Amino acid sequence: MASLDLDRVLKISDDCEGFPTDLFCVPKHYEGCVSNVLITHGTIQDRIEKLARDIFYDFYNQGKEPLHAICVLKGGYKFFSDLLDKVNGLNSNHNDGSVPISVDFIRLKSYENTESSGEVNIIGLDNLDCLQGKNVLIVEDIIDTGKTMNKLLNTINKYNPKSVKVACLLRKRTPLSSGYIPDYVGFEIPDKFVVGYALDYNEYFRDLLHICVISKQGIDKFKV
Ligand code: HPA
Ligand code: MG
Repeated sequence: MASLDLDRVLKISDDCEGFPTDLFCVPKHYEGCVSNVLITHGTIQDRIEKLARDIFYDFYNQGKEPLHAICVLKGGYKFFSDLLDKVNGLNSNHNDGSVPISVDFIRLKSYENTESSGEVNIIGLDNLDCLQGKNVLIVEDIIDTGKTMNKLLNTINKYNPKSVKVACLLRKRTPLSSGYIPDYVGFEIPDKFVVGYALDYNEYFRDLLHICVISKQGIDKFKV
Protein backbone atom coordinates (compact mmCIF):
# COMPACT_ATOMS: atom_id res chain seq x y z
CA MET A 1 0.00 0.00 0.00
CA ALA A 2 1.46 3.37 -1.00
CA SER A 3 1.62 5.97 1.74
CA LEU A 4 -1.06 8.63 1.68
CA ASP A 5 -0.59 11.49 -0.79
CA LEU A 6 -1.45 14.59 1.26
CA ASP A 7 -2.31 16.48 -1.93
CA ARG A 8 -5.19 14.02 -2.38
CA VAL A 9 -6.66 14.60 1.09
CA LEU A 10 -9.92 16.53 1.33
CA LYS A 11 -8.73 19.92 2.55
CA ILE A 12 -10.89 22.43 4.32
CA SER A 13 -9.10 25.74 3.76
CA ASP A 14 -8.08 28.16 6.51
CA ASP A 15 -10.51 30.79 5.27
CA CYS A 16 -13.46 28.37 5.10
CA GLU A 17 -16.25 29.84 7.22
CA GLY A 18 -18.38 26.71 7.20
CA PHE A 19 -22.11 27.27 7.64
CA PRO A 20 -24.17 29.43 10.02
CA THR A 21 -25.26 27.36 13.00
CA ASP A 22 -28.85 28.60 12.84
CA LEU A 23 -29.30 26.87 9.47
CA PHE A 24 -28.70 23.46 11.07
CA CYS A 25 -30.10 21.57 14.05
CA VAL A 26 -27.90 22.32 17.06
CA PRO A 27 -29.15 21.33 20.55
CA LYS A 28 -30.44 24.19 22.65
CA HIS A 29 -27.80 23.50 25.32
CA TYR A 30 -25.08 24.43 22.82
CA GLU A 31 -26.73 27.58 21.46
CA GLY A 32 -24.05 30.25 21.03
CA CYS A 33 -21.35 27.77 22.05
CA VAL A 34 -20.21 27.00 18.50
CA SER A 35 -19.32 29.69 15.99
CA ASN A 36 -20.04 27.73 12.82
CA VAL A 37 -20.75 24.28 11.41
CA LEU A 38 -17.51 23.21 9.72
CA ILE A 39 -18.53 19.74 8.49
CA THR A 40 -22.14 18.62 8.44
CA HIS A 41 -23.14 15.16 9.66
CA GLY A 42 -24.18 14.27 6.10
CA THR A 43 -20.79 15.21 4.65
CA ILE A 44 -19.05 13.24 7.40
CA GLN A 45 -21.08 10.16 6.40
CA ASP A 46 -20.38 10.61 2.69
CA ARG A 47 -16.66 10.93 3.27
CA ILE A 48 -16.61 7.90 5.60
CA GLU A 49 -18.32 5.90 2.88
CA LYS A 50 -15.31 6.50 0.62
CA LEU A 51 -12.79 5.81 3.40
CA ALA A 52 -14.59 2.52 4.10
CA ARG A 53 -14.36 1.62 0.42
CA ASP A 54 -10.63 2.47 0.29
CA ILE A 55 -9.95 0.40 3.42
CA PHE A 56 -12.10 -2.51 2.27
CA TYR A 57 -10.46 -2.81 -1.17
CA ASP A 58 -6.94 -2.38 0.21
CA PHE A 59 -7.47 -5.41 2.46
CA TYR A 60 -9.65 -7.27 -0.03
CA ASN A 61 -6.97 -7.00 -2.71
CA GLN A 62 -4.28 -8.02 -0.28
CA GLY A 63 -5.49 -11.51 0.40
CA LYS A 64 -8.67 -10.82 2.39
CA GLU A 65 -6.78 -11.34 5.61
CA PRO A 66 -8.64 -10.59 8.88
CA LEU A 67 -8.52 -7.03 10.09
CA HIS A 68 -8.31 -6.13 13.78
CA ALA A 69 -9.86 -2.68 14.22
CA ILE A 70 -8.98 -0.74 17.37
CA CYS A 71 -11.14 2.20 18.41
CA VAL A 72 -9.38 4.97 20.33
CA LEU A 73 -11.98 6.13 22.84
CA LYS A 74 -13.77 8.29 23.56
CA GLY A 75 -13.48 10.63 20.58
CA GLY A 76 -13.23 7.87 18.01
CA TYR A 77 -16.41 6.01 18.87
CA LYS A 78 -18.73 7.52 16.28
CA PHE A 79 -16.20 7.40 13.47
CA PHE A 80 -15.35 3.81 14.39
CA SER A 81 -18.98 2.73 14.44
CA ASP A 82 -19.93 4.44 11.17
CA LEU A 83 -16.73 3.33 9.41
CA LEU A 84 -17.13 -0.32 10.38
CA ASP A 85 -20.83 -0.31 9.50
CA LYS A 86 -19.87 0.78 6.00
CA VAL A 87 -17.01 -1.74 5.68
CA ASN A 88 -19.37 -4.47 6.89
CA GLY A 89 -21.89 -3.36 4.26
CA LEU A 90 -19.25 -3.93 1.58
CA ASN A 91 -18.40 -7.31 3.14
CA SER A 92 -22.03 -8.36 2.91
CA ASN A 93 -22.28 -7.42 -0.74
CA HIS A 94 -19.34 -9.31 -2.17
CA ASN A 95 -20.01 -12.90 -3.17
CA ASP A 96 -16.43 -13.81 -4.00
CA GLY A 97 -14.79 -13.05 -0.67
CA SER A 98 -14.79 -10.82 2.38
CA VAL A 99 -12.53 -9.32 5.04
CA PRO A 100 -13.21 -10.71 8.54
CA ILE A 101 -13.17 -7.96 11.18
CA SER A 102 -12.60 -8.11 14.93
CA VAL A 103 -12.68 -5.13 17.29
CA ASP A 104 -11.04 -3.73 20.41
CA PHE A 105 -11.50 -0.50 22.33
CA ILE A 106 -8.72 1.43 24.05
CA ARG A 107 -8.13 4.69 25.87
CA LEU A 108 -4.78 6.41 26.00
CA LYS A 109 -3.07 7.96 28.96
CA SER A 110 0.29 9.65 28.57
CA TYR A 111 2.88 8.70 31.14
CA GLU A 112 3.61 11.79 33.21
CA ASN A 113 7.01 13.40 32.72
CA THR A 114 8.05 10.78 30.22
CA GLU A 115 7.89 12.75 27.00
CA SER A 116 11.25 11.26 26.11
CA SER A 117 10.18 7.66 26.76
CA GLY A 118 8.10 7.75 23.60
CA GLU A 119 5.45 5.50 25.14
CA VAL A 120 1.80 5.85 25.97
CA ASN A 121 -0.24 3.92 28.49
CA ILE A 122 -2.93 1.87 26.75
CA ILE A 123 -6.00 1.27 28.91
CA GLY A 124 -8.62 -1.36 28.10
CA LEU A 125 -6.48 -3.97 26.37
CA ASP A 126 -5.26 -6.21 29.15
CA ASN A 127 -3.01 -8.30 27.00
CA LEU A 128 -1.33 -6.51 24.14
CA ASP A 129 0.28 -9.80 23.14
CA CYS A 130 -3.01 -10.57 21.40
CA LEU A 131 -1.93 -8.14 18.66
CA GLN A 132 0.89 -10.40 17.55
CA GLY A 133 0.62 -11.35 13.88
CA LYS A 134 -2.55 -9.32 13.32
CA ASN A 135 -3.33 -6.69 10.71
CA VAL A 136 -4.21 -3.80 13.00
CA LEU A 137 -6.25 -0.76 11.99
CA ILE A 138 -6.20 2.04 14.56
CA VAL A 139 -9.24 4.30 14.30
CA GLU A 140 -8.82 7.77 15.78
CA ASP A 141 -10.94 10.92 15.72
CA ILE A 142 -8.26 13.57 15.23
CA ILE A 143 -4.53 13.84 14.70
CA ASP A 144 -3.29 17.17 15.99
CA THR A 145 0.47 17.27 16.64
CA GLY A 146 0.76 13.54 15.90
CA LYS A 147 2.87 12.97 18.99
CA THR A 148 0.36 10.73 20.74
CA MET A 149 -0.05 8.62 17.59
CA ASN A 150 3.71 8.28 17.22
CA LYS A 151 3.86 6.98 20.79
CA LEU A 152 0.90 4.64 20.32
CA LEU A 153 2.48 3.15 17.19
CA ASN A 154 5.76 2.82 19.02
CA THR A 155 4.05 0.86 21.80
CA ILE A 156 1.89 -1.30 19.53
CA ASN A 157 4.80 -2.22 17.26
CA LYS A 158 6.57 -3.78 20.25
CA TYR A 159 3.92 -6.52 20.22
CA ASN A 160 4.79 -7.60 16.67
CA PRO A 161 1.56 -7.09 14.73
CA LYS A 162 1.78 -8.18 11.10
CA SER A 163 0.85 -4.68 9.93
CA VAL A 164 -0.46 -1.44 11.45
CA LYS A 165 -2.55 1.17 9.61
CA VAL A 166 -4.14 4.31 11.00
CA ALA A 167 -7.45 5.85 9.95
CA CYS A 168 -8.29 9.27 11.33
CA LEU A 169 -11.34 11.34 10.56
CA LEU A 170 -9.58 14.70 10.94
CA ARG A 171 -6.00 15.84 10.56
CA LYS A 172 -5.28 19.33 11.83
CA ARG A 173 -2.93 21.63 9.95
CA THR A 174 -0.77 22.88 12.77
CA PRO A 175 2.77 24.24 12.91
CA LEU A 176 3.25 21.91 15.90
CA SER A 177 2.78 18.81 13.71
CA SER A 178 5.37 16.09 14.15
CA GLY A 179 4.95 15.42 10.44
CA TYR A 180 3.11 12.16 11.09
CA ILE A 181 0.85 11.18 8.19
CA PRO A 182 -1.91 8.57 8.77
CA ASP A 183 -2.82 5.98 6.15
CA TYR A 184 -6.42 7.16 5.79
CA VAL A 185 -7.65 10.71 6.47
CA GLY A 186 -11.21 11.99 6.25
CA PHE A 187 -10.62 15.73 6.25
CA GLU A 188 -7.68 18.05 6.73
CA ILE A 189 -8.86 20.97 8.83
CA PRO A 190 -7.60 24.45 9.88
CA ASP A 191 -5.82 24.91 13.20
CA LYS A 192 -9.03 25.58 15.15
CA PHE A 193 -10.59 23.74 18.08
CA VAL A 194 -13.44 21.61 16.76
CA VAL A 195 -16.16 19.71 18.61
CA GLY A 196 -19.05 17.39 17.81
CA TYR A 197 -19.43 13.92 16.31
CA ALA A 198 -17.87 12.54 19.54
CA LEU A 199 -15.08 15.13 19.69
CA ASP A 200 -15.26 16.94 23.01
CA TYR A 201 -14.24 19.98 24.96
CA ASN A 202 -14.01 18.94 28.63
CA GLU A 203 -16.41 16.04 27.87
CA TYR A 204 -19.06 18.36 26.36
CA PHE A 205 -20.21 18.45 22.73
CA ARG A 206 -19.91 14.71 22.05
CA ASP A 207 -23.70 14.80 21.65
CA LEU A 208 -23.54 17.26 18.75
CA LEU A 209 -24.12 15.73 15.29
CA HIS A 210 -22.01 18.08 13.18
CA ILE A 211 -18.35 19.01 13.50
CA CYS A 212 -18.30 22.64 14.60
CA VAL A 213 -15.77 25.27 15.63
CA ILE A 214 -16.15 26.10 19.32
CA SER A 215 -16.90 29.75 20.16
CA LYS A 216 -15.44 31.94 22.90
CA GLN A 217 -18.76 31.60 24.71
CA GLY A 218 -18.52 27.81 24.49
CA ILE A 219 -14.97 27.80 25.81
CA ASP A 220 -16.00 29.99 28.75
CA LYS A 221 -19.23 28.12 29.52
CA PHE A 222 -17.62 24.67 29.72
CA LYS A 223 -14.30 25.64 31.25
CA VAL A 224 -13.29 23.46 34.22
N1 HPA B 1 -11.07 19.08 19.22
C1 HPA B 1 -11.20 18.07 20.11
N2 HPA B 1 -10.18 17.35 20.55
C2 HPA B 1 -8.96 17.66 20.08
C3 HPA B 1 -8.75 18.69 19.16
C4 HPA B 1 -9.87 19.44 18.70
O1 HPA B 1 -9.77 20.38 17.87
N3 HPA B 1 -7.43 18.72 18.90
C5 HPA B 1 -6.87 17.73 19.64
N4 HPA B 1 -7.76 17.09 20.36
MG1 MG C 1 -8.57 11.07 19.80
